[in-house]
Amino acid sequence: MDVTADPLSLLRQRTSMKWRTYPDDVLPLFVAEMDFPLAEPIADALIAAVRRSDTGYIAPHNGLAEAFASFARGRWGWRVDPAHVASTTDVSVAIVETLRRAIAPGDPVVINPPVYPPFFDLVPEAGGRVVEVPLLSGEAGWTLDLDGLERAFAAGARAFLLCNPHNPLGHPHGVEDLTAVAELAARYDVTVISDEVHAPLTHADAVFTPFLSVSPEAAEHGVCVTAASKAWNLAGLKCAVMVTASERMRRLVAGMPPEVNWRTSQFGLIASIAAYHDGESWLDGLLTALQANRTLLAELLDAQLPGVGYRQPHASYLAWLDLSALGWGDDPAAAALERAKVALNPGPMFGASGRGFARLNFGCSPEVLAEAVSRLAAVQVLHESG
Ligand SMILES: Cc1ncc(COP(=O)(O)O)c(C=O)c1O
Repeated sequence: MDVTADPLSLLRQRTSMKWRTYPDDVLPLFVAEMDFPLAEPIADALIAAVRRSDTGYIAPHNGLAEAFASFARGRWGWRVDPAHVASTTDVSVAIVETLRRAIAPGDPVVINPPVYPPFFDLVPEAGGRVVEVPLLSGEAGWTLDLDGLERAFAAGARAFLLCNPHNPLGHPHGVEDLTAVAELAARYDVTVISDEVHAPLTHADAVFTPFLSVSPEAAEHGVCVTAASKAWNLAGLKCAVMVTASERMRRLVAGMPPEVNWRTSQFGLIASIAAYHDGESWLDGLLTALQANRTLLAELLDAQLPGVGYRQPHASYLAWLDLSALGWGDDPAAAALERAKVALNPGPMFGASGRGFARLNFGCSPEVLAEAVSRLAAVQVLHESG
């Protein structure tokens, strides 16, 4: 299926954060929303729900767990028991509520910068204290720092907030790393919350491994939090799932107040079921478009901004750009916004190692991507000549 981004004239009529934060002369390539139209089965399901005025509370047995389990099995060969799937408002709520049950106030919780900025806030929101174990960057790509993780676990960390695939690097963690994490979690009795919201966006040249599937230790110590929201662009509809694979973790999730579940949105639920059941050919078409954009971005940067460091991601639509060679300072996104009228996410928000970096969202048309890079390159020409 051909999945093509909407034209700017239509996009500018949207009222979401991406389109209403900056004036129209700014190209918004920041927040993780995409510029593609909704998958038709999702749009149809939502429109049908509106037509039948189906806008009440979610039903207790609503089909979401079965839809997720069927998608997980078909896409990744991961067998999920629907009785081990609970829903809530969004992935952030799933993280906070799981953490609240896994830690005591003040407990250390590990994260791996550079990482999705709200992780720095969700941990204290749940009463925890952030401990940073940065990812390691080598010739072959990114890896988890297993020694660093062991030191943090041995020093008293009670939970580990894993991002798989990793935002902003688009890196699906390998099965060996995940198995080693599970062993460490078992040795030090650490709860692993695996945020897998970008998993359906894993590119064709990579493999996504669900954390809970790697070993009995992973099942015993892990909770997967995920949603259809990133892959099918449904973030505003508010629906996420928490998945477990052991009685111990099922009890942890079942111990949440019932309201955590009832706060799932009815529209989010309807859209997510449609995505998991009928959204796969759209998803494959989307991935073809994203993979073309990730290569196009490499070509555009090579030609116009060769000093920029860019490792092509293997999942999602986010590019982690090292702009430090341009001389735009610690927060190059500020210069990009002011001088190029291109909105990126500031690298330093992803952790201290993000200084000199910015995150670019290429979930857009090739034309918008090309325009963004030429705007950035034009600033650099002025910067160098000035
Ligand atoms: C890794 C990660 N987790 C969570 C979220 C947010 O999910 P939600 O809007 O469902 O809270 C995002 C959004 O981009 C994300 O990248």
